[in-house]
Amino acid sequence: MKYKFETDKKDFSHFASGRVLYNAANTTAFPVRLASEIIQRSFYILEGKGFFGPYKIYDPCCGGGFLLATIGLLYYDKISEIIATDFNNEVLETARKNLSLLSREGLNRRKKEIEGYIEAFGKESHMQALKSVEYFETLIGERNIRIKCMQRDITDKKDFPITGVNIIITDIPYGNIVNWKGVNEAPISSLFENCYKALDKKASVLVIVADKKTKLEHNLFKRIEHFKLGKRQIGFFEPIIRV
Ligand SMILES: C[S@@+](CC[C@H](N)C(=O)[O-])C[C@H]1O[C@@H](n2cnc3c(N)ncnc32)[C@H](O)[C@@H]1O
Repeated sequence: MKYKFETDKKDFSHFASGRVLYNAANTTAFPVRLASEIIQRSFYILEGKGFFGPYKIYDPCCGGGFLLATIGLLYYDKISEIIATDFNNEVLETARKNLSLLSREGLNRRKKEIEGYIEAFGKESHMQALKSVEYFETLIGERNIRIKCMQRDITDKKDFPITGVNIIITDIPYGNIVNWKGVNEAPISSLFENCYKALDKKASVLVIVADKKTKLEHNLFKRIEHFKLGKRQIGFFEPIIRV
């Protein structure tokens, strides 16, 4: 895969999991360069349809919210709302904390927490974390991004009150660290169906990150881009408008 947007290898160490962004147990941090590449490709697709945002973004397998929080920090002004759902209530605690960093109040809270660690332990890593909070303060705008964070089984096809989403980006369970949970025996198909219901059909893109073996296709969607990187495949889909 050739990067189209993140062509230079930048230093994303401010985003290191556990530094300012919180680390959820049994989750892995999503690579920041890849997250940035994916979201810029999504913006480009929507701009091609004449829609310049700000965008409503949803991750239905949000885990600790690392992916959404990094996207929120990097592209603050392009986002109006972030919705995060996951089957697992425990990881949602971390997601809430990570997404709270997308506001001055949340960053101030984190700053005080880190200052407390510096006072207690005086570690170099905590000094670096403080620098990263200061860097994040330069990224966020005056207008707050609306945040919604709640429990949901994305394999359950019962109605759910999320609609009008422009970008769904989700890193689905791969099977080694995290497996699919929930009621449904065909999780990928149900994921596509539920995402279809949530998307704004006129201006939207669905991005699924999965392991290379998973078959990513559904008759409600047209695949518009696809690439592989390391152990992952990334598929971009647009909803087919049914008449
Ligand atoms: C690869 S992790 C996502 C990590 C996330 N992108 C992050 O940045 O922290 C996959 C997530 O899917 C969730 N999951 C598993 N089954 C689910 C289901 N039926 N509905 C919603 N989420 C589910 C797991 O709890 C896990 O948090």
